[in-house]
Amino acid sequence: MDLYDHQGDKPDYHYECIEMVSNTNILAQRSKEVAFNYMDHLEGWCTHNKASVLVDLIFMLKPKIVVEIGVWGGKSLVPMGLALKVNGRGKAYGIDPWDSGASSEGMDGVNYDWWSQVDHQMILRGLQAKISEYNLQANIELIKSTSENAPLIPNIDILHIDGNHSEKAANLDAHKWVPLVRRGGIIIFDDITWGTTASAVKWMDENCIRLAEFHEDNDWGIWVKP
Ligand SMILES: C[S@@+](CC[C@H](N)C(=O)[O-])C[C@H]1O[C@@H](n2cnc3c(N)ncnc32)[C@H](O)[C@@H]1O
Repeated sequence: MDLYDHQGDKPDYHYECIEMVSNTNILAQRSKEVAFNYMDHLEGWCTHNKASVLVDLIFMLKPKIVVEIGVWGGKSLVPMGLALKVNGRGKAYGIDPWDSGASSEGMDGVNYDWWSQVDHQMILRGLQAKISEYNLQANIELIKSTSENAPLIPNIDILHIDGNHSEKAANLDAHKWVPLVRRGGIIIFDDITWGTTASAVKWMDENCIRLAEFHEDNDWGIWVKP
């Protein structure tokens, strides 16, 4: 029998299989549309493309613990919180001091000027309001602290490092937080081609497995914890 000439004669189980796959794709697609819509009302730098990858990783790994170092207005944290909500489990901890002194530490020139003048408290208040509006309180917890002073969070499934990009801070973020990622967990590291992140990225390559790199407005990469 030619299967393709007789599609109306396929057994029921065949239709069930097609329906399940199709629903899964629609759920992922709709979740991303909602995430992109949220992102357009949030401050930050995460692109739709990067958010799409973060959301896919969360759908794939079904993580319990996600940690982000460097949150700002939640443009990368909120899509991850939304994906956890869709999964029905997991929490994203967003660590950020929202403090101009911490942000401008190690910066110079226009970067120093921008980070030391921008109103961090207004950004934090805006994010807190959006987390409530989007009903993501169960899946997102903000920790107002520097990466250095934040309490340790063990068994991290997904770690997103996007905090202060000075050499000292980038090294601290990698050395303190990557050991807390579980075996097989994922690390996303932002701005990997900035000169100041070079030694942290080298350390990542020596201690983890580089899976992919992305070159957009900013360059970022994905590693797996061996
Ligand atoms: C590039 S922004 C984060 C952008 C955000 N992940 C996004 O995709 O839109 C860097 C953030 O790092 C935060 N930050 C500065 N110093 C920090 C530190 N010592 N520890 C953690 N976060 C820090 C800043 O407050 C700022 O919100």
